[in-house]
Amino acid sequence: MHAVTLIDASANKSEKYELLIKQADAILSSESDLIANMANLTALLKDTFGWFWIGFYRVDSKANQLILGPFQGPLACTRIDHGRGVCGEVWATATTQIVADVNAHPNHIACSSLSQSEIVVPVRNKDGEVIAVLDIDSDELATFDEVDAEYLEQLVQLLR
Ligand code: SME
Repeated sequence: MHAVTLIDASANKSEKYELLIKQADAILSSESDLIANMANLTALLKDTFGWFWIGFYRVDSKANQLILGPFQGPLACTRIDHGRGVCGEVWATATTQIVADVNAHPNHIACSSLSQSEIVVPVRNKDGEVIAVLDIDSDELATFDEVDAEYLEQLVQLLR
């Protein structure tokens, strides 16, 4: 019974992502402005999944920091140093990270004490350089898995 519930939940999530990617593709294909497109992606993700905080941090090369970009959710930290926090690690390693329990992650930056788990996905330009990260926080533990990673990586490719 438990296994069936899990399979259904996962299929449902995939279906939501499939629809969201179609909507995002339609909206983003007619607009080239990065900030506008990031803003609409956060809105689509918030409408579809309702997670606690969804937003982009963009690479500020001069300052060697991430700077807060378009987001949906409560007030957040504005600047993150290279390698600091989950976002800074994902920027440095160019690899998606899934954190099941942020309180057990030594390098995590707590912008809100309500955040319990998170996923951070690198955003690359056409040359493969990381230009931003997509950070999603949940107020529940272990919200994100490989299905989220796979679809969110597809989704941010629409920003190229
Ligand atoms: N938790 C992130 C910081 C950004 S906020 O959660 C919005 C991190 O550890 O990098």
